[in-house]
Amino acid sequence: MSAFNEERVLSVHHWTDRLFSFTTTRDTSLRFSNGHFTMIGLKVDGKNLLRAYSIASPNYEEHLEFLSIKVDNGPLTSKLQHIQVGDTIIVGKKPTGTLLIDYLLPGKNLYMIGTGTGLAPWLSVARDPETYEKFEKAVVVHGVRQVEELAYQQLFEKDLGEHEFLGEIVRDKLIYYPTVTREPFRNQGRITDLIQSGKFAADIGLPELNPETDRVMLCGSPAMLADLKQMLEERGFKEGNTTTPGDFVVERAFVEK
Ligand code: A2P
Repeated sequence: MSAFNEERVLSVHHWTDRLFSFTTTRDTSLRFSNGHFTMIGLKVDGKNLLRAYSIASPNYEEHLEFLSIKVDNGPLTSKLQHIQVGDTIIVGKKPTGTLLIDYLLPGKNLYMIGTGTGLAPWLSVARDPETYEKFEKAVVVHGVRQVEELAYQQLFEKDLGEHEFLGEIVRDKLIYYPTVTREPFRNQGRITDLIQSGKFAADIGLPELNPETDRVMLCGSPAMLADLKQMLEERGFKEGNTTTPGDFVVERAFVEK
């Protein structure tokens, strides 16, 4: 039996010339947890060309959603960026990963910190009702270079608050914090610097990050992950994984695509 399902592209949205997202059909047998990634890709010359992608849609949706960069000479994304509605992509049957609220110890506030396409897992976790059962506040941080790279800004700032089932709880508990590093914006600078200076905590109106109350999930560039992991460990946070829950969990956003 194949390790992959063939799915049909249902919609494609180009955010910028470097960033796009798309939705596909979902095989009814595919099971995953919110925050998981899976291998996806295209058949090229009879061979599967695959990369790991976080599943951006929540696990109760009938379709799948993915957020991708476009790299001109990237083996996969140089082709994937041209997909059209009706095209076929392949999707691995075994989603996995560490960015699950199950791998965090109980806490008060959940911080989901992502740069670039590292936003993708939060799109799933922030649409999971269990996130709001387990935490008093859920904070989604998206760090990007340019304002136009703030994909899904409207989802966080408007649509989720109006969502049929999640709207009320999201309005009460979800905080969205976009920050831009290379042009003017209301929140400016690297998330690491904003945390260190205390500006981030002041802006969102919550106390400074503290392992007694806070849990953190990180996804993005290796440099950001390394810096934030060190900052968290200096504050006494312990890393969790799929076998031992902790105060924070980490996953690379897979960028060489
Ligand atoms: P910067 O513009 O200062 O490099 P990228 O597009 O390279 O993946 O970056 C996405 C965002 O992550 C950018 O805003 C970038 O800021 C930021 N970033 C890159 N490295 C780090 C780091 N070590 N710590 C915090 N933010 C980072």
